[in-house]
Amino acid sequence: MIYPFLKGGRGDFSPTALKILGIESSCDETAAAVVEDGKTVLSNVVASQIDEHKLYGGVVPEIASRRHTENILWVVRSALEEADCTLDDIGAVAVTYAPGLIGALLVGVSFAKGLAMAGKKPLVPVHHIAGHIAANYLSHPGLKPPYLCLVVSGGHSHIAEVLDYTRYRVVGRTRDDAAGECFDKVARTIGFPYPGGKNIDEAAKLGNPEAFVFPHPHVAGSEYDFSFSGLKTAVINLVHNTQQKGAEINRFDLAASFQKTVSEILVSKTMKAAEALGYSKIALAGGVSANSGVRGLLSAECKKRGFELFMPEFKYCGDNAAMIACQGYFDFLSGKRADESLNAVATMSLEDK
Ligand code: KG4
Ligand code: ZN
Repeated sequence: MIYPFLKGGRGDFSPTALKILGIESSCDETAAAVVEDGKTVLSNVVASQIDEHKLYGGVVPEIASRRHTENILWVVRSALEEADCTLDDIGAVAVTYAPGLIGALLVGVSFAKGLAMAGKKPLVPVHHIAGHIAANYLSHPGLKPPYLCLVVSGGHSHIAEVLDYTRYRVVGRTRDDAAGECFDKVARTIGFPYPGGKNIDEAAKLGNPEAFVFPHPHVAGSEYDFSFSGLKTAVINLVHNTQQKGAEINRFDLAASFQKTVSEILVSKTMKAAEALGYSKIALAGGVSANSGVRGLLSAECKKRGFELFMPEFKYCGDNAAMIACQGYFDFLSGKRADESLNAVATMSLEDK
């Protein structure tokens, strides 16, 4: 198939005004966006299900899938309308196909396949975590690989070398809970509603970060790997012991001390990896990249070392489809395509994408 927006020869494509429709449904956000040339966001529509899942203290996969099914059509339609586009103007459809909740992913993947087939558009499968990393290209068009990225979301905690726009090497990963998961579980223990991370962040601003001292876990084997289950257990034990004594715990101090500890763990390992691997360009990505403690400490430590730091704007930290369309652009340029046999995959390493 010849794409009218591609010019140039030798496979060295130079696309002009390539509009990509991105679709994201890996967890509890139904999202669609139109992004031109991987950098200009023409629309970015996100339908969040937070209010409904809040009733259950976390994401209920079955409810998430049902809501995606109800939302996907109007979300995609709104994204096209806001971008002042029809499907005819779209050069390719990019969709998150892994990793995530399988039923939730399937809604976006099925919809994108149908749209691509009906509109005779190329279909580009996008890895969700690659999308989070690509959010940085939207906020910082000057950012170019290679660089080192700390990826912290609800399901993943990685230190990854971004070798080029579509190739990664994961040098550190969590052995148990992801950073966002730890925020959410600790929030529940302290009594903050879902989504916990954002509520801990708000509470931490009112507390004393030195009030409690929590352990910094040592992970045998790889010095860049994380482990958050010990920290989570330490907070839970502290809360239970205090309750058993009939005493009151200051939730704001606890939130501040916990957030300080998580930030120190994440940032110290990232700095160690950067120094050892010779990176002076650092990026942050994933839902937890919105956290003020992590952003603040990472900024300070990068400044100390003269490292250049890139962090997504808040609107691109959580799940959204602009980041998927952006990564879809780079995947498209690298020749990545899917056909109607594309399936959703719940677990997939960034390196195997
Ligand atoms: O990337 P994301 O939106 O979804 C996944 O791909 O998992 O990340 C969601 C995670 C949740 O655990 C949420 O509590 C956390 O990001 N999060 C935060 C903040 N905002 C969202 N964690 C700490 N501080 C925040 N401000
Ligand atoms: Zn995410």
